Amino acid sequence: MEKVIYILILIILENSNFYSNINTIYSPTSYDFIVNKNNKLTNDYIPNDLELLDLEYSLKDKYLRKEAKKAFIKMASQAKIDGFNIIAVSTYRSYEYQERLYNNYVLDKGFYYADMCSARAGHSEHQTGLAVDIADISLDYDNFEKTKEFDWMRNNAHKYGFILRYPMGKFHITGFKYEPWHYRYVGIETSTYIYENSITLEEYEVKKNKGIV
Ligand code: DAL
Ligand code: ZN
Repeated sequence: MEKVIYILILIILENSNFYSNINTIYSPTSYDFIVNKNNKLTNDYIPNDLELLDLEYSLKDKYLRKEAKKAFIKMASQAKIDGFNIIAVSTYRSYEYQERLYNNYVLDKGFYYADMCSARAGHSEHQTGLAVDIADISLDYDNFEKTKEFDWMRNNAHKYGFILRYPMGKFHITGFKYEPWHYRYVGIETSTYIYENSITLEEYEVKKNKGIV
């Protein structure tokens, strides 16, 4: 089954427009802008309002943009009250860091596998300072889907402005395989719409451009 999915993904990658006709974002003006395989940040883009996350809800030296941090802390502290541990294990990543990460994936797993799971430098949401990878107390984000914290996030993240950015079965749209641990701050209005309509940020953008939302 895994092999069949892998082959399907290879076919999609081969026939897609991913990493072609790339649009460059110089200075994002909203919280719900798209960074993906067709929309990239410049190599010198560093958000100017990054703030350090409290260790109570994060690993060491993790930064998010001011608004995203505020929303994340609000979300994680409510989760704690409800009995769940939401820990940020990866947040802002620089262009150079992402470049190393992607190159290591290519060396380790090959080019196609790397492109399924890791963004090329400039194309990662982690450079926006608005994305966060989450784990429970085990810190094992790879197994996040199996935790009760994941269920909590699935039902509550949108109330704080976050979306599950790479849902299952949306590879042909997002360009990345299912990542139960990766959440993106887009603001509450956008996150609520995306959650209620079970769509991706890419599909939301299309609706916005057509004036539907
Ligand atoms: N894993 C996500 C797609 C990234 O590399 O930004
Ligand atoms: Zn991530």
